[in-house]
Amino acid sequence: MPKKDLTKIAYKTLQQGKSIAGLAHKELSTKVMEFFSPESIPKTSKVSRELLNELRKSMIELEEVDWEEAENGIYPKTLLFEAPWLDWLKKYPLIWLDLPSTWIRRKNKNTRDIPKRINRENYPSYYLQNFHHQTDGYLSDKSAELYDIQVEILFNGTADAMRRRILSPLKEGLNKFNLDQTKLKILDVATGTGRTLQQMRSTFPETNITGIDLSGSYLKQASKYLNNRDGEMVELVKGNVENMPFNDESFHAITCVFLFHELPREARQNVINECYRILKPGGSFILADSIQLSDSPKFNSVMENFRKFFHEPYYIDYVKDDISEKLVKRGFNEVSSNSFFMTKVWSAKKE
Ligand SMILES: C[S@@+](CC[C@H](N)C(=O)[O-])C[C@H]1O[C@@H](n2cnc3c(N)ncnc32)[C@H](O)[C@@H]1O
Repeated sequence: MPKKDLTKIAYKTLQQGKSIAGLAHKELSTKVMEFFSPESIPKTSKVSRELLNELRKSMIELEEVDWEEAENGIYPKTLLFEAPWLDWLKKYPLIWLDLPSTWIRRKNKNTRDIPKRINRENYPSYYLQNFHHQTDGYLSDKSAELYDIQVEILFNGTADAMRRRILSPLKEGLNKFNLDQTKLKILDVATGTGRTLQQMRSTFPETNITGIDLSGSYLKQASKYLNNRDGEMVELVKGNVENMPFNDESFHAITCVFLFHELPREARQNVINECYRILKPGGSFILADSIQLSDSPKFNSVMENFRKFFHEPYYIDYVKDDISEKLVKRGFNEVSSNSFFMTKVWSAKKE
């Protein structure tokens, strides 16, 4: 059998394994919650068999695109298998140990249980919350250590495949400059624990890459993860992405993954305005976040259940928000979007 076919089988098998593991974890943890803390369970809509089939089909389509783009050299195939497996395995029991505190917060509707040592003046009010009932919100090392595994479980092992959907439009945007890789500068906004940064570093090994986030703990986690892997230095900056510490026209491209659904409407526009300011003329802004009501109506109940099950205070507003209009309002051109499983990707250009 040709090596290419074997690699594809390995990729498909890995994805299937991650999907089964994610589903099994969710099923089991919900049963345990039903037993120990039934009051913590929100009322969600039943997902029909047809909808489950649609979801499965959409997930397989995402994986096909992911494979095809690697096969076509948009990014290296090694990225399809990239994860700190041993580290995740070691940390997995901590997810279970953390569950009871999550149930208590759910039951008491306590969504602002943030570490006392935090100086609240340094953060916008919307940030000081337990998004997805996460212990300590984004504001502790413990939260940062568990985040990647939690996201993998949430999306049944497709989180990285969804993040990778930014790489093709990003490459296309950078190619327009016709410059040597070493002369290009990319910024990843709300970079979190660095998974997107690693994907970028593998795809553009000689390009200057920066990540910015408001969580020192998440940046520390990103630094650990990136330092343990091959590749050039990546710069990590702590700051609020509504007001970034970069000069006008600094970057050739800017990306932003899974941030917008956690921002109030006004902050979304502020981030778009900031990205426009610090992009060079001709630069691209690539944004990835949840699918929205208008373009994925068949998944409405899944979006609704997501909001009910997890603390996502701005999600319902986000799924109705016209992001393309916001981009155009700030002056972006060539605005387009495309959906892949649970993720929508916008691409926009600054003239
Ligand atoms: C859902 S996580 C997404 C992280 C990462 N992009 C990923 O793909 O996993 C949201 C991230 O946005 C960051 N964040 C939220 N609001 C922010 C703000 N105003 N300024 C900077 N970072 C912010 C959080 O600290 C967190 O790391």
